[in-house]
Amino acid sequence: GQGRGGWWMATPISELRRTPSCSLALPPLKASHNHTVTVRTDLLREGRAPVPYPSKFKDAWDDVTVKMPCSERNLFPGGPEGSGVQSRWNLIQTSLETEFDSSVDVQNAILRYNTAHAKKWDFAALNYLCEGLEDVEVEHLFESILPRMVQLAVNAPHLCTQPIPLLKQKMNHSITMSQEQISCLLANAFFCTFPRRNSRKSEYSNYPEINLYRLFEGSSHRKTEKLKTLLCYFRRVTEERPTGLVTFTRQGLNSFPKWESSQTLLTRLHITCEGTIEDQGYGMLQVDFANRLVGGGVTGLGLVQEEIRFLINPELIVARLFTEALHHNECLIITGTEQYSKYAGYAESYEWMHSHKDETQRDGWHRKCTEIVAMDALKFSHFLDQFHPGKINRELNKAYCGFLRPGVPRQNLSAVATGNWGCGAFGGDTRLKALLQILAAAEAWRDVAYFTFGDWGLMRDVRDMHSFLTDRRVSVGCVYRILQQYYHSVCKTCRTSRPDTNHWKQPPLAFLRRSAELASSGLTFWM
Ligand code: AR6
Repeated sequence: GQGRGGWWMATPISELRRTPSCSLALPPLKASHNHTVTVRTDLLREGRAPVPYPSKFKDAWDDVTVKMPCSERNLFPGGPEGSGVQSRWNLIQTSLETEFDSSVDVQNAILRYNTAHAKKWDFAALNYLCEGLEDVEVEHLFESILPRMVQLAVNAPHLCTQPIPLLKQKMNHSITMSQEQISCLLANAFFCTFPRRNSRKSEYSNYPEINLYRLFEGSSHRKTEKLKTLLCYFRRVTEERPTGLVTFTRQGLNSFPKWESSQTLLTRLHITCEGTIEDQGYGMLQVDFANRLVGGGVTGLGLVQEEIRFLINPELIVARLFTEALHHNECLIITGTEQYSKYAGYAESYEWMHSHKDETQRDGWHRKCTEIVAMDALKFSHFLDQFHPGKINRELNKAYCGFLRPGVPRQNLSAVATGNWGCGAFGGDTRLKALLQILAAAEAWRDVAYFTFGDWGLMRDVRDMHSFLTDRRVSVGCVYRILQQYYHSVCKTCRTSRPDTNHWKQPPLAFLRRSAELASSGLTFWM
């Protein structure tokens, strides 16, 4: 069924704005004090691999840039008699450029320049993967895919010539690089070559892990499916050089709406219990239900919304190389990543399905018109905590930071494609979070396409609430004040772990509705 009472409700999705049709023409791409561009912008040609800028490798080894495996400061114990140290990059090259016949060879190569971890790291998942493959597939892996990945990785000093700035907290900065440069960095992550990134006790302790050693460890089915997904990506990018660019923008805001007094009215809503953010939300601002360390458990066991997105669009993973943990007022916006795989299932049942050809158009900067925003919700273990005004402010501000695009006119903003943000692994309440995202989107002038991921009741309730509020022209501030009231009159005095569901059938929507009815009938005592 379609439309009212069926699988979607409220505004038809075809009425919501998408890129590229809604967007303004982009200004010419150029580097500036807050935008690092690692390719020659004057030589960009449609369908050609971009040229790295500068032409020669520029070494940097400091606390504002990514420490590269090919830096001459990347040293390793040993070396010529008496010197005590040798170039770790030389060792990496000689170790990787030997023939691999089995997963043990790959393991031995990686451990030659990671000797400190030889006893701890385990490569069982890589073995399991090979055992499960057909002979021809194993042959293809060892004779073609892995050798090409090695070539890509060791090409780093020719491809990734410009120091990559760390996107630290409080920085508003963008990095635009080529998909080919990203593939080189990711090949290095696969072979665990990034220095100072194998221990939590380093200058990178507030950064996500980038070397992929955890992916090889253990015997879980999850790991082999993850490896298949990533190897599909590496096969694709080593068979044909990717030609586009990707931009990573760290955005932090210092001023936020005065939620309590906001007169803003809600924007339009499309809500459906079918489909996903990535498939049906093409051209919209797609929310990544993120961890403060972007990518969350993608290199380990995690396999929910964020990790799956990072696997099917692996260029997202490179954000882990340079993005410091997100603060409450920050998000990371990633424009231009390509989808290389299709998947089925979710979490324990996740499976790599097949290679996917992403037909998304490119924008004026040769980026796929796919905009993803990593925004981390708070994790709640006690249901009532999330109704605390401080927590509500935090979540509203986080979503607002994710949705706001300063300087972009309203008619050029695509809709937000989102869903149960913070309501799976992070334990939030779907009805509250839907409402908060609707408020934040309204303040940021964007419509919302909400995917309930199979939850029919949620679709009905959120649609009912949205039409109730829009019919009565209830403002963002009014809803906010009702939520505060809900906290004070229900949550604070609640003696159980959740409000009594007999009285507040669907907290907080039932309360909201009752309060808004009182408000619209003139009984504004609670305001
Ligand atoms: N499209 C729409 N909705 C989805 C999709 C999808 N593709 N996938 C899942 N959902 P969760 P969180 C729905 O648990 O609670 C990761 O480890 C589905 O209903 O991924 O914010 C991060 O790195 C699901 O239950 O998000 C963080 O550490 C719900 O979205 C942590 O999880 C929430 O998905 C974030 O957890």
